Amino acid sequence: MNNVIEKQNYIEKYRPQFHFSPESNWMNDPNGMVYYNGEYHLFYQYHPNGTTWGPMHWGHAVSKDLVHWEHLPIGLAPDEHGMIFSGSAVVDWKDSSGFFDGKSGLVAIFTHADTYPDSNRPRQRQSLAYSKDNGRTWVKYEGNPVLTEESITDFRDPKVFWHYETNKWIMVLAAGQAIRIYTSKNLTSWDFASEFGEGHGSHQGVWECPDLFQLPVDGNSGQKKWVLFVSIGDNPSLQEGSRTQYFIGNFDGNTFVNDNSPETILWIDHGRDNYAGVSWSDVPAEDGRRIYIGWMSNWRYANVTPTKEWRSAMTIPRVIALKTTDEGIRLIQTPIREIQGLRNENTSFRNEVVVPGLNLLSNVENNTFEIIAEFEIGSATEFGFKVCKQNNEETIIGYDVERKKFFVDRTKSGEAAFHESFAGKHESTQGSQNTRIKFHVFVDRSSIELFGNDGESVMTDLIFPKEENKQMELFVKNGEVKLHSLELYILKSIWR
Ligand code: FRU
Repeated sequence: MNNVIEKQNYIEKYRPQFHFSPESNWMNDPNGMVYYNGEYHLFYQYHPNGTTWGPMHWGHAVSKDLVHWEHLPIGLAPDEHGMIFSGSAVVDWKDSSGFFDGKSGLVAIFTHADTYPDSNRPRQRQSLAYSKDNGRTWVKYEGNPVLTEESITDFRDPKVFWHYETNKWIMVLAAGQAIRIYTSKNLTSWDFASEFGEGHGSHQGVWECPDLFQLPVDGNSGQKKWVLFVSIGDNPSLQEGSRTQYFIGNFDGNTFVNDNSPETILWIDHGRDNYAGVSWSDVPAEDGRRIYIGWMSNWRYANVTPTKEWRSAMTIPRVIALKTTDEGIRLIQTPIREIQGLRNENTSFRNEVVVPGLNLLSNVENNTFEIIAEFEIGSATEFGFKVCKQNNEETIIGYDVERKKFFVDRTKSGEAAFHESFAGKHESTQGSQNTRIKFHVFVDRSSIELFGNDGESVMTDLIFPKEENKQMELFVKNGEVKLHSLELYILKSIWR
């Protein structure tokens, strides 16, 4: 088939069917996510002239439902101050910036990246652009850059939000291996407020792409906490590559205080492929959700994954919430409900005892689907799903009863030779005390997302199986397990 037709239909080998990916070329972090006038904007780190990382632009897409995306022309391109690295966007409702003649409009706050004059030393400075036409065209602010700091080389990825209690804009910014907090009345001039991070959490790599937001604990309990996301760059001595940690604490408009001991490390995902995730700004209060999306790759091998015309996709958008667990307050993630609109054919089972050799899914063949299943632990030591199976390849999404852990095993998932650290088995860290085990799984040709036990254990992993590998199996090992319920939905493509 010719390339143009393949591209228009999003049917190339490995092309995700219900995840966002650029039409062509390289993508990394999600940027500038904001909801305004009925549209969710998604910008992204984009290299429009190649399928590996290169001079960064902001690619752009919009959606009315966070599921179907319309590609728009590039939002921001490099200029005299350099490339356009990661950042955020906000609605300036009251025209605090003075850009909008008293009306509201969109302001993007991003990192300009170049080098210091007559040197190779990287220079990263924060800048603004604004749009008076719903993000269709952007004007770079004439006073750029608006925030500089010569003493810090890694100084990037501003995430800005309005803090009602103090009536100020807040910027969280990655600065070396810390997060700096700045405040502003007008988005154009920024005051340093505080720094967080030294001695806290993981410092195995450079800190990047922070986000800070408040969430209720346990729904309507009345208690609220602040959550700080911090992505950690790759470091050759790490098995995991790049990944994202989070902190839970309090924020008073100036300072973030960690609730947990400094040595506590909390990861948002226990797979390998969820990085640089940040949340949407200005989701209407009547909706009330905090929704984020991550880049579904890992700096360890992102530039060499085996796709041709494009490289990388985003995770499905996820709702984040806080829940009190045995170990303390933890982040839980669930897929946005809008994705249910993609459900097509359905296979379901109720109250079955699953024994080795009985494959309830032997009649289903597909590679874009969703499974929701609830089990009661029995004598089996391991159970779960084998997907994208055939030709001696399979990916296992399972639960290990003794270790009380979910796992994804992509050791035999398909193409893996592009990087020595790709193949492998990943497991969730939290054990569950429960004997009820719930799987919510999304498979989209080249990705696996597992939301275990109502989103307490989340794992995101890329896979590159043969195109015809569509068989699946519900398996148990060394005994039986009770299946309370299982729903399997084939999911429609968002592109056709
Ligand atoms: C994170 C990151 C950011 C930076 C961008 C450059 O993946 O390294 O810190 O702004 O990618 O593309």
